[in-house]
Amino acid sequence: MSNGKSVLITGGTGFIGAHLARKLIREGYDVVLFDLYPNPHGIEDIKDRVKIVEGDVADYNALAETIERFNVGSVIHTAAMLSVAAATELRTAYNVNIDGTFNILEACRIAGIDKVVFLSSLAAFGPNSPFPFHEATYREPASFYGVSKVCGEVLGTFYHHTHGLDFRCVRLAVVIGPGRRGKGATVSFSKFVEEVVLEKPGVILVPDYTILPIIHVDDATDLLLALWKADSVDKRIHMSGGVSVAIEDFVSEVKKQVPKADVRYEMDSTVEEVAGTWTLLTTMLVQQGQEKVYREIEEIGWKLMIDDVEKLAAHFVKEIKDNREMYSSY
Ligand SMILES: NC(=O)c1ccc[n+]([C@@H]2O[C@H](COP(=O)([O-])OP(=O)(O)OC[C@H]3O[C@@H](n4cnc5c(N)ncnc54)[C@H](O)[C@@H]3O)[C@@H](O)[C@H]2O)c1
Repeated sequence: MSNGKSVLITGGTGFIGAHLARKLIREGYDVVLFDLYPNPHGIEDIKDRVKIVEGDVADYNALAETIERFNVGSVIHTAAMLSVAAATELRTAYNVNIDGTFNILEACRIAGIDKVVFLSSLAAFGPNSPFPFHEATYREPASFYGVSKVCGEVLGTFYHHTHGLDFRCVRLAVVIGPGRRGKGATVSFSKFVEEVVLEKPGVILVPDYTILPIIHVDDATDLLLALWKADSVDKRIHMSGGVSVAIEDFVSEVKKQVPKADVRYEMDSTVEEVAGTWTLLTTMLVQQGQEKVYREIEEIGWKLMIDDVEKLAAHFVKEIKDNREMYSSY
């Protein structure tokens, strides 16, 4: 299906990019990882089987050269600044998340690449977005990160209608799993698990009442692969549901797997603010039963497998125990 061409993953050594690359490599695809800060640790096991390019999505020429040099046939665009970083560095976030997405679309149009998969987020919605949320709901994001995701959706849909680009997008719930790094509000749901399995104190930067709509990275990457592989799609924008999880319930489940877990809460005001917005959104989703609506996307044959908090904790802990050496190294 790749016609001998390679798949370019922007942000490819990041959390989702690395998990995605691993699955693509297992299936025999040629994969190019384009990343401003290539992180060898997250791809330790596959680093000899992928091409790694250090580059900035805000740099159009670097992207265009990479596409030509590696005979790229399609792009999965994951590179972005995430919520908390975007809130504190607006101009850089604009350059990376909005200009960067424009650069991808333009480079693909000019190189004749037809398929681009874009990772949007439930942060495209905000407390003023009308309920229930669905693919065509008016979006009114509450964060600059959400604004940048909406811009990417609108730009990509425009390129589809005007230039015939096969733009495919999914608004993901919050993705958790091994290898998640950074200091964002949602990172807290991942990092402490790794820390406690590796017998370190697990630090959580959000208040204990925080609730998020969660999807495990294995489910998220299966969804992205299914979206990328589908021969055709009727909808440009898809939604992923997830499991609504309160951090304190998740901690309890993790403690069943790791009884000696030492978990500590530390507050950071910017993170707390972002976590507050997420908690409000999740509460709205739960009240309307919305988080369960998008647990299956029939059109591409995808279904959420890790669908409760117990499975989330068990799956997460097992993967770190099975790959202790890799996750200890960074
Ligand atoms: N993690 C989540 O919960 C979640 C939820 C919904 C959507 N998403 C989207 O998924 C994508 C990947 O998220 P992630 O969790 O893997 O984040 P991540 O921070 O782990 O990975 C992003 C990668 O992009 C790279 N990058 C940053 N700026 C770049 C630039 N200018 N040029 C090239 N590379 C650059 C980083 O070095 C990093 O490796 C993002 O677009 C994010 O908005 C993530």
